[in-house]
Amino acid sequence: MEVIIRKFSLDDYERVLQLWRQCNLPLKPEGRDSLEEIRRQLELPQVIFLVAEKEGQVVGTVLATHDGRKGWINRLAVDPAFRGQGLGQLLVRAAERELEAAGLLMFAALIEEDNLPSLRLFEKLGYTVHPDIKYFTRKKFPGA
Ligand SMILES: CC(C)(COP(=O)(O)OP(=O)(O)OC[C@H]1O[C@@H](n2cnc3c(N)ncnc32)[C@H](O)[C@@H]1OP(=O)(O)O)[C@@H](O)C(=O)NCCC(=O)NCCS
Repeated sequence: MEVIIRKFSLDDYERVLQLWRQCNLPLKPEGRDSLEEIRRQLELPQVIFLVAEKEGQVVGTVLATHDGRKGWINRLAVDPAFRGQGLGQLLVRAAERELEAAGLLMFAALIEEDNLPSLRLFEKLGYTVHPDIKYFTRKKFPGA
């Protein structure tokens, strides 16, 4: 059956959270993944939230953001039952197209070093790995 890539709507929220749990993504339900936060983020022009729908169900997500200089690929996830069919690639390319339409010419993703499927996917799509870079964060509270 055909795959539809479309914009996330708030009606997808519960399913998307379930999907992210299935995919072991580092969920922040009290922080940036709460319904209120997602609602706020969706109103920002620099947030592009896409889902892949197959057989009437959301089976993949990608949340692209940008800071005016770089486009970031976040929350790439594909339902385990639908992996290996090219959906991950499709979602990244769709996010890149949206970012490019917003004027972004560089795309980036943060990937844990033991996440082989994701590392391979981004390599395949032409991304350069930077093993010399350390990622620093600071949070206002632990679940932010
Ligand atoms: C990473 C993920 C999104 C890939 O989704 P997918 O739909 O299976 O990926 P695709 O079918 O588009 O695969 C594209 C390429 O990625 C690589 N790849 C995907 N899964 C792989 C695996 N299990 N092992 C090795 N390489 C893999 C391959 O190069 C593949 O190309 P090929 O099929 O020609 O070999 C999926 O495994 C997932 O949701 N993982 C859990 C969440 C996650 O880690 N997200 C990324 C956070 S940075």
